Amino acid sequence: SKLVIDAGSGRNIPDTLFGVFYEEINHAGAGGLWAELVNNRGFEGGVAANLPPIYPWKIIGENQSSITVSTDLSSCFERNKIALRMDILCQGTSCPSGGVGISNPGYWGMNVEQGKNYKVVFFVRALGPIDLEVSFVGTDDGVKLGSTNVNVDGLNVTKWSRMERIIKATGTNHNSSLQITTTNKGVLWLDQVSAMPLDTYKGHGFRSDLFKMVADLKPKFLRFPGGCYVEGDYIKNAFRWKDSVGPWEERAGHLDDIWHYWSDDGLGYFEGLQLAEDLGALPVWVFNNGFSHHDEVSTDAIQPFVDEALDGIEFARGPATSRWGSLRASMGHPEPFNLRFVAIGNEDCGKKYYEGNYMKFFEVIRRTYPDIQMISNCDGSDVPLNHPADIYDYHIYTNSQDMFSKHTKFDKSPRSGPKAFVSEYAVWKEDAGVGSLYAAVAEAAFLIGIERNSDVVSMVSYAPLLLNTNDRGWIPDAIVFNSYQSYGTPSYWVQRLFTESSGATLLNSTLETSSPAIVASTIKYKNSQDGKNYLRVKVVNFGKDIENLGISINGLNTNGQPSASSMVVLTSSNIMDENSFSEPMKIVPRRTIFGNASKDMNVKLSPYSVTSLDLLF
Ligand code: AHR
Repeated sequence: SKLVIDAGSGRNIPDTLFGVFYEEINHAGAGGLWAELVNNRGFEGGVAANLPPIYPWKIIGENQSSITVSTDLSSCFERNKIALRMDILCQGTSCPSGGVGISNPGYWGMNVEQGKNYKVVFFVRALGPIDLEVSFVGTDDGVKLGSTNVNVDGLNVTKWSRMERIIKATGTNHNSSLQITTTNKGVLWLDQVSAMPLDTYKGHGFRSDLFKMVADLKPKFLRFPGGCYVEGDYIKNAFRWKDSVGPWEERAGHLDDIWHYWSDDGLGYFEGLQLAEDLGALPVWVFNNGFSHHDEVSTDAIQPFVDEALDGIEFARGPATSRWGSLRASMGHPEPFNLRFVAIGNEDCGKKYYEGNYMKFFEVIRRTYPDIQMISNCDGSDVPLNHPADIYDYHIYTNSQDMFSKHTKFDKSPRSGPKAFVSEYAVWKEDAGVGSLYAAVAEAAFLIGIERNSDVVSMVSYAPLLLNTNDRGWIPDAIVFNSYQSYGTPSYWVQRLFTESSGATLLNSTLETSSPAIVASTIKYKNSQDGKNYLRVKVVNFGKDIENLGISINGLNTNGQPSASSMVVLTSSNIMDENSFSEPMKIVPRRTIFGNASKDMNVKLSPYSVTSLDLLF
């Protein structure tokens, strides 16, 4: 096989080509990227999710009849009225040792690390003076990891007070709980109990190790917040942006009925925009266009949703003096966010009212914000759309063989009209596991096909991005984590091989081969570290045999000897191999020896591998 590259001719790859898609699925945000440690901080989540009212909070001392715990609707927050009530029946030494109270295990254990600081905030009112101890303890061993005291005077039982303390951890336990205990008889109400590590990214609330993993993908856009999460199983549970902004303690929270868990909406619309900005990515906001998985809003009743979308755009980019822009400013971001893309719904094409609703959104947004690029849910890759759009959405979940074959998917797509946004792609089901090499190599071929067709595909993102290993609602995913660890699946590492592609130059190249298993592309990019131009040749071998590939590079101004070269290969001994917490780096791109780089050279391609060659001429 031979790859002939013309280094003198090519075309620009869109600046936005590679990005990420964040959705609240698999506890990606709540119990994941959003660093809040308390699960169900406002006590609304239990009943909403058809679980015990205070789930997953536990009562300390109940079995000794020293306390009763209930909920009522006495919260000071209008949008989340449920508060927790503790009737403390014991006093002093008559209480069980350690006192009585409640404890929250977080999302499968809070990660508490020695020396780190945690901000604990809660709202409280009481009947009678009550001294509280707020502490982190190991969930299994009960060992205390840091604590603070809070005195509630209880002079005015109707008055809620906000309490804030920093707890510095004196020990480490990845499976800890937050406890609030007392030995004082009386009645105490609690609401909106939060515990956040202080070392979140820029203090913006994003768990730092997970943020870094996403940032290392160098995403040029962030599509959010879904996905089906935007639609909901029923519209009453859909993500509605207005419920997710403003002070966190005032947010309503909602049942993520698609992925079956309660979300306090700590990572709401504002935080999604902030996340995009922090990643250096352009936000792509997907809003609800009147559809869930079970109900539809007809076009003649869609206006409130249109108004909601317009208000959402104003929230993101209106001046700080505007109605919704001023709310954004009050949340700490007076400057507008750089919102240039919106998607009108998710996977709703073909539904009865889709096109009617779509046009209502399209026309008014085009008029009001002519620069905003609008994304249709309808697939225009084979036949042109029958409605106006700037971009059309394309999703694909399939097996490895089929994903590999899709490297030609856009070869015959219309070359004019809206561009494609492959906003969700992944190999899934039987040959994907929790992220297999086989899946990743097939996806690499698909991405090479996208790179080669980047005149018609302007954006691409893998889905889903994040998996809390304790909630495998959807596998595989790019990044797997628990309370304190994380690793990338091979699919994640494939994406890392494309981080230089956005905004690079795609060079013309021809692959002469009789092997149906080889797919290749070449880019020229500027290395941000040394400021020099490199050629990057990426080749997939999706076959069981070693392949020899000759590479000829024409059109270089130099004598043909690269002054530097490096080759990395992503492969493994078994196609179903995966990374794991015990072997997080089993399958990652590895540097291999490559001494014979020149403008005419030979490369051996391992079975089921992705090879990436960087050449500085
Ligand atoms: O990525 C998981 C889900 O797959 C998304 O929520 C949805 O858009 C698609 O069906």
